[in-house]
Amino acid sequence: MRTYYSGELRKEHLGETVTLCGWVDRRRDHGGVIFVDLRDRTGIVQIVSDPQRTPASYPQAEALRNEYVVKITGRVTQRPSESLNPRLPTGEVEIYADAIEVLNQVRKQLPFQVSLAETETVREDLRLKYRYLDIRRERLSSNLQLRHQVIKAIRRYLEDEQNFIEVETPLLTKSTPEGARDYLVPSRVNPGEWYALPQSPQLFKQLLMVAGMDRYYQIARCFRDEDLRADRQPEFTQLDMEMSFMSQDQILQLNEGLVAHIFKTIKGIEIPLPLPRLTYAEAMARYGSDKPDTRFGLELVDVSDLFKDSGFKVFSGAIASGGIVKILPIPEGNKAISNVRIKPGGDLFKEASEAGAKGLAYIRIRDDGDIDTIGAIKDNLNEAQKEELLKRTGAKPGHLLLFGAGATDLVNKTLDRLRLAIGKELGLIDPDKLGLLWVTDFPMFEWNADEKRLDALHNPFTAPHPDDVGDLKTARSQAYDLVYNGYEVAGGSLRIYQREVQEKVFEAIGLTSESARNKFGFFLEAFEYGAPPHGGIAYGLDRLVMLLAGEESIRDVMAFPKTQQASCLLTEAPSNVDGKQLKELHVASTYKPEVQKSRSSEIQNVKP
Ligand code: AMO
Repeated sequence: MRTYYSGELRKEHLGETVTLCGWVDRRRDHGGVIFVDLRDRTGIVQIVSDPQRTPASYPQAEALRNEYVVKITGRVTQRPSESLNPRLPTGEVEIYADAIEVLNQVRKQLPFQVSLAETETVREDLRLKYRYLDIRRERLSSNLQLRHQVIKAIRRYLEDEQNFIEVETPLLTKSTPEGARDYLVPSRVNPGEWYALPQSPQLFKQLLMVAGMDRYYQIARCFRDEDLRADRQPEFTQLDMEMSFMSQDQILQLNEGLVAHIFKTIKGIEIPLPLPRLTYAEAMARYGSDKPDTRFGLELVDVSDLFKDSGFKVFSGAIASGGIVKILPIPEGNKAISNVRIKPGGDLFKEASEAGAKGLAYIRIRDDGDIDTIGAIKDNLNEAQKEELLKRTGAKPGHLLLFGAGATDLVNKTLDRLRLAIGKELGLIDPDKLGLLWVTDFPMFEWNADEKRLDALHNPFTAPHPDDVGDLKTARSQAYDLVYNGYEVAGGSLRIYQREVQEKVFEAIGLTSESARNKFGFFLEAFEYGAPPHGGIAYGLDRLVMLLAGEESIRDVMAFPKTQQASCLLTEAPSNVDGKQLKELHVASTYKPEVQKSRSSEIQNVKP
């Protein structure tokens, strides 16, 4: 039907008769001449109809309304000089419509204006409920097209330049241990048994290595039932990769090539390689985070040694019980940050206490070089310690030094949060900078205080660092994350490929050999039949595209995302199912309907 897309037309098409199909973005009536912006996913072009020049299409043009679906045939004409539109790629031309055919009308009032010219912000719940209308609009339409371009660039690089093949892995499967809750699917034909939807293709991709598939990749859907945030969805997409016979360095290098290719193709930017690398220990020391935003400074400084014998018990006590004292130095912080903000009730105090801190001590460096602080710090700091503190933090007149004191995790979490909030507020983040880096050498395990046991930090298939195999409990692993502007966009590791090592790791996380066999028997067995050394990585594709699109939520780069309550407002999933269906699946619900009643009465109470 159509000969061009609307957004394609340029001066080079002048004089051609074209047929276009799309939606009426806007219709304007200028004293008898009707202008229609015709839109499809490539953009808009101006259509003109008037009783003199195009009498045949004029009655139809008059009847058009926003979002009607139309087919238009007309001549590409130069716009008069006074009506050129430099903001539109098609702004030098317009189409005089010889024929307009309405393919479909709009029969209900639109829930919001779709037009590209519309600047009004629409509530997200409405956008989600009428997602097909939201996707007609510029922002979502271009984000989804960008997403497609990113996936295309990935495929081209991995397949054409690096010899990867895509292999699909099952969605109805066994639980994969990535640390979140599983989504479960009951089996009708195996009463009482359940599939788990994959949290990642981890086990299958490793089995593909044992199977000799070597360079595997997959644009893989993953499912995790966890608390949702702006960068987390219950159902999301990974670029999943696994490779055999490669060292960690070679894997990182190959991935740098991939990232460089994406940036070149999508943004036209050459990123300098190799990417910077920080060990986990360095990242925590300098930024208090394993996914530091390195686009700005404000690096943390450990001053535990200066306060270990201090008369200020808050500091010395923290150190005595195994904790640390660290400083976030803020140049010019005196001017920007008042005492009100760092004392109880203030916004920065709140930020710190949400991270778990009980207080927020500070030192201000006055213009004369002397310091302002609470008596307890000042009185317990001798001249030499003060000198050393100023030297180590690089503090100059005007500096504000914020302290974190207590358990290492808590101090890092607090100062990381403050650093990000203050960096943003003071405009220290240069939007043109790329904060891309590797974080390596993660610890193998972290302590799970609730369950009183070690948990694998990455996953239990990650290989320990060869220097640390003596004591697995404190070992570093061969895991790495790719960080982009403070987000973890990818994570991976070299894997264990020897059964004995794998069993030791299971043992360290408290998995008895019996439960390991129950859960992963098939996997452990595969290691007995010639497993090659291998490793891999998975990118959060939604997060990567979100950052490339300059968005703040992955919902804005997904066609049909879910809400924070993990529901789809468009289809109203999840929803009740027929009792008959449950019976067939051998499933009975223990859900107590009172909860729903109270929720609906809450809503009724709010109604006028
Ligand atoms: P990991 O659990 O780190 O590793 O996941 C890899 C990447 O996936 C993204 N991600 C998410 N994105 C959106 N919503 C979520 N709920 C979500 N959870 C994770 C993150 C993360 O870096 N099998 C391993 C990979 C490997 O070792 O090869 C894995 O899944 O960007």
